[in-house]
Amino acid sequence: MKNSIQEEFISTVSHEMRTPLTSIRGFSQTLLNSWDRIDDENKKKFIKIIEEQSNRLINLVENILTVSKANSDRQVREKVYVNSSIEKIMPMFYERYKNHKFILNFNKELPPAFLDDDKFQQIMTNLIDNAGKYSEEGNNITITTSLDDDNIIIKVSDNGVGIKEEDFDKLFKKFSRLENHLTSKTQGNGLGLYITKQLVENMGGTITLTSIEGSGTTFIVKFPIYNQEEALKCSHKS
Ligand SMILES: Nc1ncnc2c1ncn2[C@@H]1O[C@H](COP(=O)(O)OP(=O)(O)OP(=O)(O)O)[C@@H](O)[C@H]1O
Ligand SMILES: [Mg+2]
Repeated sequence: MKNSIQEEFISTVSHEMRTPLTSIRGFSQTLLNSWDRIDDENKKKFIKIIEEQSNRLINLVENILTVSKANSDRQVREKVYVNSSIEKIMPMFYERYKNHKFILNFNKELPPAFLDDDKFQQIMTNLIDNAGKYSEEGNNITITTSLDDDNIIIKVSDNGVGIKEEDFDKLFKKFSRLENHLTSKTQGNGLGLYITKQLVENMGGTITLTSIEGSGTTFIVKFPIYNQEEALKCSHKS
C-alpha cells in the first residue's frame, strides 16, 4: 500500500475501532461502579452490548487481516471446478440463514477456471453472506453457474432490499455501508465487497451487479476458462 493510502486506512480503522471500544469501556465501567444499583435485566442488557461490540471488533480485525492478505499473499492458482468449490461452503450458509431458501442452479458441464480455491471461496462467501444479510427470512437466494465463449459466469441473486443505481460505485469502496433498514440491523464493516473486488480482479476476473431497489440484487462474477498456456505463463511469473 502506498503511504498516503496506508495513512488513510489507519485513520479509518482507528475511527472504526474507537466506537465499539468506547462503548465496551463505558458499559464495563458502569457495571463495575454501580453493580448493586443495577437490576438484573439491565445487567444482562449491558453485557449483551459488550458482547455485540466485541464481536464487531473481532469482525473488523478479521476483515483487516483479509484486506492485507488480499493485497499481499501470493496466489496459488490451479484448475478449480467452481460448482464443487461452492458446494463446499454451502453447509455454513444453510446453518447461518436457516430460514432462507437456497437454490443452486448449476451448469453441470462447466470446464474449470484458473483460480486460487481459498480466495474463490472467500469471494463466494462474501457475496452469499450479503445476499442473506440484505434480504428477509423466507426469501430465495439463487446461485447460478453458466458459461459463455470465454468465461465461467457465477451469479448470486437475492430478492432483498436492493441497491439504487447511483450507489453501485460506492459499494466497492472500503468501509462503505449503504442506508437501508437491514444495514442498521446487521453487523458489518463495509469491507466485504472491497475485498471481493480486489480478489476477483487479482485473478483476472470481473464483478458487476444489477439491482432494483426494493426487489433484489444480482452480483455477477466472471472468470476466464482455464487455459493451459495462460496457466504456464502465470506459473513462470510467480
Ligand atoms: N445483496 C445486497 N443487497 C443489498 N445491499 C447490499 C447487498 N450486498 C451489499 N449491499 C450493501 O453494500 C454495503 C457494502 O457491502 P459489504 O459486503 O462491502 O459490507 P458489509 O456487508 O456492510 O460488511 P462486511 O462485509 O465487511 O461484514 C452493505 O453495507 C449493504 O448496504
Ligand atoms: Mg458484506
